[in-house]
Amino acid sequence: MSEEVFDLVVIGAGPGGYVAAIRGAQLGLKVAVVEKRETLGGVCLNEGCIPSKALLDSSELFHLARERFAGHGIEVAPPTLNLGRMMARKNEVVKKLTDGVAYLFKKNNIRSFAGTAALLGADAAGSQQVEVLGENATRLTAKKVLLATGSEAVQIPSLPFDGETVVSAREALAFGEVPGHLLVVGGGYIGLELGSVWLRLGARVTVVEMLPRLVAGSDGQVADALMRSLKKQGMRFLMGAKVAGVERREGGLVARVELEGGAQEIECDKVLVAVGRRPLTAGLGLEKLGVKMEQGRVLVDVDYLTSVPGIYAIGDLIAGPMLAHKAMEEGAVCVERMQGEPSLVDYGCVPGVCYTWPEAASVGRTEEALKEAGIPYKVGRFNFSANGRAMCMDESEGFVKVLAESEGGRVLGVHILGPRASDMIVEAVTVMSFGGSGEDIALTMHAHPTLSEAVKEAALNLDKRAIHG
Ligand code: NAI
Repeated sequence: MSEEVFDLVVIGAGPGGYVAAIRGAQLGLKVAVVEKRETLGGVCLNEGCIPSKALLDSSELFHLARERFAGHGIEVAPPTLNLGRMMARKNEVVKKLTDGVAYLFKKNNIRSFAGTAALLGADAAGSQQVEVLGENATRLTAKKVLLATGSEAVQIPSLPFDGETVVSAREALAFGEVPGHLLVVGGGYIGLELGSVWLRLGARVTVVEMLPRLVAGSDGQVADALMRSLKKQGMRFLMGAKVAGVERREGGLVARVELEGGAQEIECDKVLVAVGRRPLTAGLGLEKLGVKMEQGRVLVDVDYLTSVPGIYAIGDLIAGPMLAHKAMEEGAVCVERMQGEPSLVDYGCVPGVCYTWPEAASVGRTEEALKEAGIPYKVGRFNFSANGRAMCMDESEGFVKVLAESEGGRVLGVHILGPRASDMIVEAVTVMSFGGSGEDIALTMHAHPTLSEAVKEAALNLDKRAIHG
């Protein structure tokens, strides 16, 4: 078995791991990355954020051509779906991006090792040993090892994945045909995004959600308005409900759904289970080394150092939302701190986006959370129906809601439901990162006509002085 020595070994080449590796190389470290997938980029690039957004964008265009072009005066024959081409385009996007990470590794002299990594513990000199199991078994030695192995879909015991009919997001991103009826278990990010894709492409979609609201933890008004919008598009919802099991019968599947009023049988062709994800730590050897965990997550300190010297962890493995951008920030900050820089992740300013249409984007606290914490606040709201650009786009659903301290006006949270909310939320993140106020947004000149003017108007409305509302 060959042996090689590095300054830093990163395990996992997802958004957290590959950013950490590149930042480490930029800071002069000799870096190796171990990845068991054939391609780099982790779940995000291969079977998560990127392919789902590729399909969301394609299916949105299909929906627009079918439902909305005529309103713009564009008469076209009803469009037909070439699902094979749509999937091929998605795969092309994924390939470009995963190849892009490989290119960046080369450019930064990062060594990439294909295989599954296991921690062997420290040698006599205190360096960590990592075994790479694969075609070419290798042992890597480094003073610092960063765990960035991410997460996997949670399985419900009553609905085990079979890769064909009861599936996770991975398979739902690659169905060979549009299901007649797709049953989605879980009304969170994945359920609503992939439910939207297949709904737009012609499937009937029923979402079964255990809680009374969609996208748990989001602003109540946003969640309610999003649900109304998705219902208008044809999505069905069974709230406060659970799927007790699924039976294969002739002609398809029958799911038994437990609702408050009793049980209901629902015929469907596919079941997408999207009830959350859990950290992927199996096989790493964490228990043997004594790496402390809590509720399945690896415990780390402010440096992202675990309870074992030399072993660090970031991303979905540790506490916090399982989001690619959170992992990316942690990757960079962790390596910078290893090199003595005083970097920090601002956990109060992690944006969340649900890429439905309209999109739901938020940062900071919700009204519900502020009430619960007893923090006095004021609300400024502005509807896209009064925004000129939204009208030009024929996209006037949704609103911007700014929450600010009653005294002083510091922005505490911003919640947007609307077209391209994902791009608009960055203004709120920036202002909040600098501890800015609603007045800071209100005083900032916003180009006209843009969707972002709705953010300014909502900020003006904190003091009831929006111009157009
Ligand atoms: P999620 O945590 O967003 O939503 C899961 C939903 O399933 C919750 O509403 C929960 O109440 C419900 N649920 C749990 N058990 C259930 C049961 N037995 N029956 C019915 N409903 C049940 O999880 P999801 O959608 O699987 O996504 C996983 C993770 O991936 C998320 O935590 C998110 O951080 C990340 N993600 C982020 C995206 C984004 O930023 N746009 C897109 C996709 C995923």
